[in-house]
Amino acid sequence: MARNSIAESWRQNNLATRILRAALGFTWFYGGWQKASDPTFLDKASPNYIGAQIQGYSKSSPIGFFLRHFVEHATQVGVLVMLTEFAIGIAVLTGIWLQAAIIGGALVSFGLWITVTWHAYPYFLGSDTAYLVMWIALFALIRQQYAGRRAPKVVPIAERREFVRLLGVGVGAVIAAMGASKLQKSLPKSAAGAEIVKLAKFPVGSTMTYTAPDGNAAVLFRTAAGVFAYSAVCTHQGCVVSYNSSSKTLDCPCHGGQFDPYNGGAVLGGPPPAPLPKYSVAIKGDAIVSA
Ligand code: FES
Repeated sequence: MARNSIAESWRQNNLATRILRAALGFTWFYGGWQKASDPTFLDKASPNYIGAQIQGYSKSSPIGFFLRHFVEHATQVGVLVMLTEFAIGIAVLTGIWLQAAIIGGALVSFGLWITVTWHAYPYFLGSDTAYLVMWIALFALIRQQYAGRRAPKVVPIAERREFVRLLGVGVGAVIAAMGASKLQKSLPKSAAGAEIVKLAKFPVGSTMTYTAPDGNAAVLFRTAAGVFAYSAVCTHQGCVVSYNSSSKTLDCPCHGGQFDPYNGGAVLGGPPPAPLPKYSVAIKGDAIVSA
């Protein structure tokens, strides 16, 4: 690796290596960012809380007996995962400690495969399998680049400084994202009370998707007993579920997750670790509104 230049590490890569580095580096950085900016990820009261997720995975993973030990330290595990994803993303994008980052990324993908996507069916719907293969391919390409030569182990001083600066940006990003998520939680739900649909257009037995006050997709039901609604965001990896009128379930298209809308959004099958969160809705006058 030429000294003093992160850009040089990209110039030295062939096209296939650059594509893999860009895709994996960005995805890992974004993974960390998404966790940091998700107000429910570290919220113990939320069904999306990392502890609830670990508990759910421990029931279906072949290493469930091992995962159970982490439930009581779930918040620390969540923060660690988030920072690891940021660090791997930054390292892969900058090319500093690249081989170590690739090995770390492969280990994380392997861990996610054996816990989160273990039950994905068919198997190719489990994204972690593909990421693991991408990490292995990237490692092979990088080794090929240094064939016959020792890969640089010591980071040149100037790059170290550059790396510290980038790490500062990463840490700043985490703090900003966490601050943003806290602020978001403290804001009033401005759209509460907003009309979703007129009763005349939504008779008993109807179902529809709509946008909830927090901007997420939701599914509304009207039965003889009244109206109720759930988040349409799957508690596994965030795909949008839809109502299946023949099985009377909410089905996730990504990994076969299935929820029961007539029983509190409970998980009926697949990898989702928690039920779908509920949204408050009510009948007011001639319409159904967000409550
Ligand atoms: S996102 Fe995996 S089952 Fe829904």
